Amino acid sequence: MKRVLVTGGAGFIGSHLVDYLLKRGDTVTCLDNLTTGSRVNIEHHAKNKQFKVVEGSILNESLVEQAVLEADLIFHLAAAVGVRHIVQNPLESIIVNVEGTACVLRYAHKYKKKIVLASSSEVYGKSNAVPYREDGDRLLGSTTINRWSYAASKAIDEHMALNYASQGLPVVILRFFNTYGPRINEQAYGTVIAQFIRQAFLNDPMTVHGSGYQVRCFTYVEDTVAGVVSSSEIKEAEGQIFNLGNPRPWTVVDLAQLVKKITRSKSEISHVPYKDYYGLSYEDTPIRIPDITKAHQILDFNPEIHLEEGLRRTINWCRENYQSARNTQKKNRILSD
Ligand SMILES: NC(=O)c1ccc[n+]([C@@H]2O[C@H](COP(=O)([O-])OP(=O)(O)OC[C@H]3O[C@@H](n4cnc5c(N)ncnc54)[C@H](O)[C@@H]3O)[C@@H](O)[C@H]2O)c1
Repeated sequence: MKRVLVTGGAGFIGSHLVDYLLKRGDTVTCLDNLTTGSRVNIEHHAKNKQFKVVEGSILNESLVEQAVLEADLIFHLAAAVGVRHIVQNPLESIIVNVEGTACVLRYAHKYKKKIVLASSSEVYGKSNAVPYREDGDRLLGSTTINRWSYAASKAIDEHMALNYASQGLPVVILRFFNTYGPRINEQAYGTVIAQFIRQAFLNDPMTVHGSGYQVRCFTYVEDTVAGVVSSSEIKEAEGQIFNLGNPRPWTVVDLAQLVKKITRSKSEISHVPYKDYYGLSYEDTPIRIPDITKAHQILDFNPEIHLEEGLRRTINWCRENYQSARNTQKKNRILSD
């Protein structure tokens, strides 16, 4: 039994991690400012005396210090996320992702608390050296292209963490690759899966950016959480970086076809130029596949959920939740009439 701090615990991945930790009997504090996260994701724990929500920012020094002080273990997931959000709010995102993480790391170091840090496959940028190895080179575009600020800020987080590690801080860095599952949120990480499911439900065109032949890997959230938990338990993982992703590659067009098949949607697949969605300040990465040899060897990380099965579970969740959201909207309209 541990006292655990989860920053970003009201978010998509964070709330699944909170579920897991509470189920195994830990006492959990969630520090979240609810920008992209939501109380709905954690409301089923509202009556659990071993769970506490602190609503506030990782930029708030005194809040972070207190939360770190009270914990034995920290999972740092809070971040400004989502390519579109980053492109539209680059400065604010850099400040949260660099200063916020600096603040959490500083207090973890001060009070000697073990910390697991969420990084991203984005740090590899547009490198073609696939599959990506943790010690491989990175390739980022120009600083005039806002998209790369997220990769740059996550990379700075990693540099800070590794330097604290060299001063004795037990820290593990995890690079997540496109995680999806129930509670997926199109407004947050902005994953293409959430967008396709919504469009498929509405029989709207499923909009594929660019050619659709971009290659991506999609990881079911249960598999991601298993890797996150295991990274916090294995001594050998400290001071190291791990790719956490399902290495099976998919083109975005094939993903769209699969969503269409499972939802039995009548949607057409339509191609939209990047600039119509993200503006001119955008570049994409053609192929992104993780090498998970190291995660497999040290963390025993074995992503098990096939995309088709994971999508079925996600689509079922979306169907139930979109329906209940629609019912609530309808009820509110009737009440206000
Ligand atoms: N979902 C993915 O596929 C993916 C891929 C790569 C990396 N990641 C990383 O994993 C972590 C979790 O991502 P997620 O997909 O669950 O996204 P999410 O948006 O659902 O979770 C992020 C959480 O951080 C909170 N937050 C944002 N700014 C904050 C601040 N200043 N103070 C406190 N809380 C703040 C948000 O409210 C949200 O609950 C992030 O660090 C993200 O960069 C996710």
